[in-house]
Amino acid sequence: MSAVLSDQGAFVAWRQARQDAVEAALSEWVSADAPAGLGDAMRYAVLDGGKRLRPLLVLAASEAVAGSAEAAMRAACAVELIHAYSLVHDDMPCMDNDVLRRGKPTVHVRYGEAQALLAGDALQALAFELLVPDDGSVGPAMAAQLCRQMARAAGANGMAGGQAVDLASVGHVLDQPALEAMHRKKTGALLQASVLMGAATGQADRDVLVHLARYGASLGLAFQVVDDVLDVTADSATLGKTAGKDAAADKPTFVSLLGLEAAQAYADSVIDEAHQALDHSGLPDAGILHALADWVGRRAY
Ligand code: IPE
Ligand code: IPE
Ligand code: MG
Ligand code: MG
Ligand code: MG
Repeated sequence: MSAVLSDQGAFVAWRQARQDAVEAALSEWVSADAPAGLGDAMRYAVLDGGKRLRPLLVLAASEAVAGSAEAAMRAACAVELIHAYSLVHDDMPCMDNDVLRRGKPTVHVRYGEAQALLAGDALQALAFELLVPDDGSVGPAMAAQLCRQMARAAGANGMAGGQAVDLASVGHVLDQPALEAMHRKKTGALLQASVLMGAATGQADRDVLVHLARYGASLGLAFQVVDDVLDVTADSATLGKTAGKDAAADKPTFVSLLGLEAAQAYADSVIDEAHQALDHSGLPDAGILHALADWVGRRAY
């Protein structure tokens, strides 16, 4: 028991230290200087909120393969910028029409729709810029690989494509394979890319990458299933976003398909698959990646 507690304590300390480092790096890289208040909207969208799960996955995977710390911090912040942009657009009236995000009014409520649209656009562009520094701290081959991985995860066959399916599915019943495919795209792709981008900052064997890809895919799917569960079980104050929106908007979710208990049990089983993939990777130091999977499966917000 004490070993478990001290492992958990070590994970919490690791997480807090990395969250602080990511916050500091984002604050430096997302400047308020952009014209006509755009920089303020961008900083409002990104800073001071969120679990920073995607950056944590990048950093943990990079540390597990002894990757470049400089490249990892850039990749960590880049994926968080893509995520933040996706949230700004996801919340807009033309999509989920949400007024609360990370415990604050959404960007379009605070700054207006046009500025929110532009803040999302600019955050996405900045994400790619971060991966290609002009100081040589990320080599050209690694920078190109990181850009490609992030572009694929964010684009038509990843997050954006999944969001398109999400909107097209309102009012429809999706069967489990269809729902799973949507979740893997809209949310899973960027989480999986976070793991693989972290690994790309080092020299992992091909075999290790295959298992890390499975770990990331499972964790990514489980994450969105738990998001569906929390939308029903948690309150808005805890979530920092409006609870109960999925049923109100008639979205197909794992809860609407399977019911609450079976949805959580399904998430647990997919998290088990993530652990198994890590075990098969043979990585000697995968403790933090295991702990992140457990955190995703049992998170309260
Ligand atoms: C929310 O993501 C949007 C989904 C992809 C489900 P998170 O739950 O990671 O949101 P933050 O970053 O912690 O605010
Ligand atoms: C959002 O999914 C996925 C994104 C790509 C932003 P949701 O619409 O379920 O996320 P929340 O619940 O608003 O955070
Ligand atoms: Mg949505
Ligand atoms: Mg939403
Ligand atoms: Mg949701």
